[in-house]
Amino acid sequence: MLLTPPAAPRLILAPMEGVLDAIMRDQLTAIGGYERCVTEFVRVSQTLLPRRVFYRYAPELKQGGVTPSGVPVFIQLLGSDPTLMAANAARAASLGAPGIDLNFGCPAKTVNRSQGGAALLRSPLLVRSICQAVREGVPNSVPVTAKIRLGYDTDEQFEEILEGLAQVELSELTIHARTRRQGYRPPAHWHQLRKATQKMPYNVIANGELWSPSDVTQCAKISGCDTFMLARGALCRPDLAAAIQSQHRGTQPTAFAWEQTRDLLIQFLERNRQCYDDRYAVNPVKQWLMYLRIYYPQAGALFSQVKRINDPIQMAQALMAPCRAEAA
Ligand SMILES: Cc1cc2nc3c(=O)[nH]c(=O)nc-3n(C[C@H](O)[C@H](O)[C@H](O)COP(=O)(O)O)c2cc1C
Repeated sequence: MLLTPPAAPRLILAPMEGVLDAIMRDQLTAIGGYERCVTEFVRVSQTLLPRRVFYRYAPELKQGGVTPSGVPVFIQLLGSDPTLMAANAARAASLGAPGIDLNFGCPAKTVNRSQGGAALLRSPLLVRSICQAVREGVPNSVPVTAKIRLGYDTDEQFEEILEGLAQVELSELTIHARTRRQGYRPPAHWHQLRKATQKMPYNVIANGELWSPSDVTQCAKISGCDTFMLARGALCRPDLAAAIQSQHRGTQPTAFAWEQTRDLLIQFLERNRQCYDDRYAVNPVKQWLMYLRIYYPQAGALFSQVKRINDPIQMAQALMAPCRAEAA
């Protein structure tokens, strides 16, 4: 009897406010392995946002809603008014967004105080109404997805949230396997996702603490998911998605050497200089180094060398000079 090999894992590049902008999306999706990305959240509070706001968050809209390597970019909206959320989703769709994602996971106090993000998880009916209104507000051809956590303070309402969402025709549901109170502290409770994979009438995407190909294998076993959203791990190891796909094919993943990653940093600085004022071009590089140092010791050494640099030319020189750790 011939056994069908298991399908390749589907990988989504997570939304990360202040980190995963169009430049970073371009660089990471160019390495390969991702099926789609999600923008940083677009805050919907009182108005129908002007078109320029959507273009700012997703410049990809001007190129068919995909990154230069052809990976679709869903627009993420965050807000609590169903009608307004639907109107903004319709506008994003009319600009060519290939999909809309709804944020119910943001733990930021300022956002939660104004009933946005994870705060909404305390009102499962409202979560459902927002999803329903957005689903009805955009053409059927445009997928609508949502991203939740297990709950706000506790996971007591998790099943109630799922029951509400099961009644809406979403395309997929991403679950960050922690409550808002658990923040970003390990572990992620992948076993909780099993309840969702059993209950939901559509696909569930696992998120939280996926740092390596073996984490994905382990998470798949525990959660029953075959789709995974990569967030901090994708920044620590730029080739993470490609490595996960290689592992699935049974080929030896050729891990990105530090030199390749440093070249990415050099390009990243250059791209930031083209898009932003010089004053703002350097900090994203430092921020990325903070993530990279979790995987590459050389990035930690380089960060110590560049942390006080504010001038982009000096930063470029420092990135291009062989790092002390490499020379040692
Ligand atoms: C700096 C930062 C910014 C984030 N911004 C967003 C966001 O805009 N929208 C969202 O849904 N999640 C956001 N998240 C949450 C991530 O998408 C993801 O759910 C979380 O980091 C857990 O995955 P991980 O353990 O693999 O990092 C953010 C996380 C971080 C660390």
